[in-house]
Amino acid sequence: MSEDALVIFTPSGKRGRFAHGTPVLQAARSLGVDLDSVCGGRGICSKCQITPGYGEFPKHGVTVEPGALSEWNAVEDRYNRIRGLKEGRRLGCQAKVMGDIVIDVPPESQVHKQVIRKSATERDIAMDPATRSFYVEVEEPDMHIPTGDFERLKRALQDQWKIKDVTADLTILRKLQTVLRKGEWKVTAILNQGNHDEAHRILDLFPGYAEEPLYGLAVDLGSTTIAAHLCDLSTGKVLASSGLMNPQIRFGEDLMSRVSYAMMNPGGDVEMTRAVREAINNLVLSISEEAGISPGQIYEMVIVFNPVMHHLFLGIDPVELGQAPFALATSDSLTLDARALDLTAMNHNARVYVLPCIAGHVGADAAAVALSEEPNKSKDMVLIVDVGTNAEILLGNESRVLACSSPTGPAFEGAQISSGQRAAPGAIERITIDPITKEPRFRVIGSELWSDEPGFTEATATTGITGICGSGIIEAVAEMRMAGLVDASGLIGGPDQTGTPRAEPHGRTFSYLIHDASAEGGPRITVTQGDIRAIQLAKSALYAGAKLLMDAMGIDHVDRVTLAGAFGAHISPKHAMVLGMIPDVPLDHVSSAGNAAGTGARIALLNRAARDQIEATVHEIHKVETAIEPRFQEHFVNASAIPNAVNHFPELAKVVTLPDVSFNTGGSGGGEGRRRRR
Ligand code: FES
Repeated sequence: MSEDALVIFTPSGKRGRFAHGTPVLQAARSLGVDLDSVCGGRGICSKCQITPGYGEFPKHGVTVEPGALSEWNAVEDRYNRIRGLKEGRRLGCQAKVMGDIVIDVPPESQVHKQVIRKSATERDIAMDPATRSFYVEVEEPDMHIPTGDFERLKRALQDQWKIKDVTADLTILRKLQTVLRKGEWKVTAILNQGNHDEAHRILDLFPGYAEEPLYGLAVDLGSTTIAAHLCDLSTGKVLASSGLMNPQIRFGEDLMSRVSYAMMNPGGDVEMTRAVREAINNLVLSISEEAGISPGQIYEMVIVFNPVMHHLFLGIDPVELGQAPFALATSDSLTLDARALDLTAMNHNARVYVLPCIAGHVGADAAAVALSEEPNKSKDMVLIVDVGTNAEILLGNESRVLACSSPTGPAFEGAQISSGQRAAPGAIERITIDPITKEPRFRVIGSELWSDEPGFTEATATTGITGICGSGIIEAVAEMRMAGLVDASGLIGGPDQTGTPRAEPHGRTFSYLIHDASAEGGPRITVTQGDIRAIQLAKSALYAGAKLLMDAMGIDHVDRVTLAGAFGAHISPKHAMVLGMIPDVPLDHVSSAGNAAGTGARIALLNRAARDQIEATVHEIHKVETAIEPRFQEHFVNASAIPNAVNHFPELAKVVTLPDVSFNTGGSGGGEGRRRRR
């Protein structure tokens, strides 16, 4: 029987025997218990707080006596006086094991604490950020043993934290001597750990022990919108989320028109690169202001995008992506200096991690969706559709995952739609149309009330009713089809055919009036024949992409569908299926994942292991190229009908009966605009 004391840690359940006098932090480390420390056990940082338990613990088979830990010492006393320790807490580096003891490690003291999800669409993330603070005590210089201050700092990091290979650029070397002397040879270093075997990079230095807040930014740079989450790198908390339009829209709405702009205009790619980097700098400033932090405290950014945006952001001419074989300059992940990318609004030494791309048309955004949604771990066959100007589509399960991208165009984001607008207060986001009276009722962003409910006018008085956003246009077209205002070919019927004056002549076609605010100087919000065509093009491209993956997988149905995208969470599964955007599955097998690409970027920002994981996973994802696949065109044409000319939707038929109407009176109206776009 050993004289040593039994130490049991909760919640991990790890246990071991230790000699009397062993500090709790040391016991935790030797058992691999996750207990934080920034000061290396010097009683400065208080990250190592623990809660000892006393009395009977029948579950663990121990009784903890009052003297099981050493007496409260002077360091703890001082810390408690100055900063305050919570009732019952001790500092793990100061308290020593004196008898059998049960020790709880509270979540705040865990390095790899979980960021608990707030909603069903969020994943729990274990904290393991690449950028962290380390406190070290550096040896003073000695005239007789000539070494540089930096070399002694490196040795301190190696001895005290086992961190080998540390680099620093000139800006750090310039301030090193002042900081070391000011801190009396004690210093807090902000280190960024590069990928794999790359060296740690010193991003900043502070004299003494400094509790500097560290922030990071997860960015989803889309063709139409840029979305960002500002995260606390110690807690994982999202401090602010913000977005803006991609200013490159002025060079072309979709990706291929931007590639053409670069091809046709010498220096066009440089112009686009400058525009998007400027936008990200502005986003850094605005999101920092919103969160009340200094942009200089942002030390890292993780960014995801499609391949064309990837090249344009990095300053690589995207011309090769416009033509077969669609070769990327590089598909590997990258860790870069923010200032080399002109991202000067963040900390001067901030780093940027770029997720790997899957292939020429399937980018880092699709990799981020895979990281967030993990189709490679799914037991059942899941189709994940990230809806945007260019849709990323993943299909698979734990044995195989396929991916493609499909050129949906910006219609789903409210662009190229006559009354379309960005999802902002005042935009119609939900709509129903009575199948008998053909009268619409709707809801706008910023109010919970439907348009026929009392108080709606007052509730929308400040925002007005300004247009239709992406999810609103999907519902509007689907509702028009369900109410018999639009036939299977996508034609809008006239007032005589539909029995409603809301079906108005519009040139040689008809449009449907949702809301007329012209008397108050507002807009007339209508869905035109052109809008229906734009939605048909977008949804056909989406469906054809999904179908192509199903062909490649050798299946004709999927078990479940996940809708993702900046507005994916807002798409109604029923309406998406009425339109034939997605394959037929039971409606309760369709779920929303919110902005999965943004979530993937956030996971990579907060968890370094996730970077290794996705870097390995992208090699296992098989890419299907839609641009050269003849079956794509066939699926695309069939999918132009609402919901589809050849594929049946039996699950949809269980919940919705689509009216058998036809408004084709022999005129044209049906074929224009079936142009393929990427
Ligand atoms: Fe820093 Fe205990 S490890 S106070």
